[in-house]
Amino acid sequence: MLKKNTSLKLIKYYNYINYNLIYDNKAINRYKKENYEISQDKTRSLELLKKAIFNIKNCSLKKQAKNIVFCDGNPKSKIMFIGEAPGANEDEEGLPFVGRAGMLLDKMLAAINLDRKKVYISNIINYRPPENRRPTEEEIKRYLPYITRHIEIINPKIIVLLGSTAMNALIGGEEVISKMRGKWMEKKFGNCKTSVLITFHPAFLMRQPAQKKMAWIDLKMIRDKKNNLKI
Ligand code: URA
Repeated sequence: MLKKNTSLKLIKYYNYINYNLIYDNKAINRYKKENYEISQDKTRSLELLKKAIFNIKNCSLKKQAKNIVFCDGNPKSKIMFIGEAPGANEDEEGLPFVGRAGMLLDKMLAAINLDRKKVYISNIINYRPPENRRPTEEEIKRYLPYITRHIEIINPKIIVLLGSTAMNALIGGEEVISKMRGKWMEKKFGNCKTSVLITFHPAFLMRQPAQKKMAWIDLKMIRDKKNNLKI
């Protein structure tokens, strides 16, 4: 039996993350770009990285996509969320997580008092795979140096990997995500030493809403870590 206090918190969380989202097709509240004052070095490094991705040769994803999807959020943030790859809405707007999964991500962030102005968001792959298929091993391998460099430039203290593609690309191993989620790991990407937490992808949570209970545990871990690190 859940304690009354825990049940109340769960109800509040479900309200936040819109438990019935699958049946909800309200308009998306689109995020407005902020002008973050970041160092010239960081700005330049991000620009160079974006240019390098833009100049990738022989990538069929890039040929078919409308836009590069590079990042959203605050480049000064110490918390970086990494998803899989853009979908149709993201391809259209050139921003990550602006479709239905993004709406749920926003609600998950709000549940722990975060939003896109306080975190930084990117994906393993920067161009939309056709029909929203999973990126292939070859595609992941091609984009891995770019997301590694992206992490190095942002230099976050916390990385949250959303879903198994991000997990497999950056952590590897044979374990399934249900075994790997909800544990802090210390990892190094390029020159960046950081704490990593794996959690379920919001699109998965929309298909398997019962797993939102586990995602709530992970979100509270992020909140506690953020407080402990005084971020
Ligand atoms: N799913 C992702 O993994 N990334 C996005 O940007 C959108 C949906």
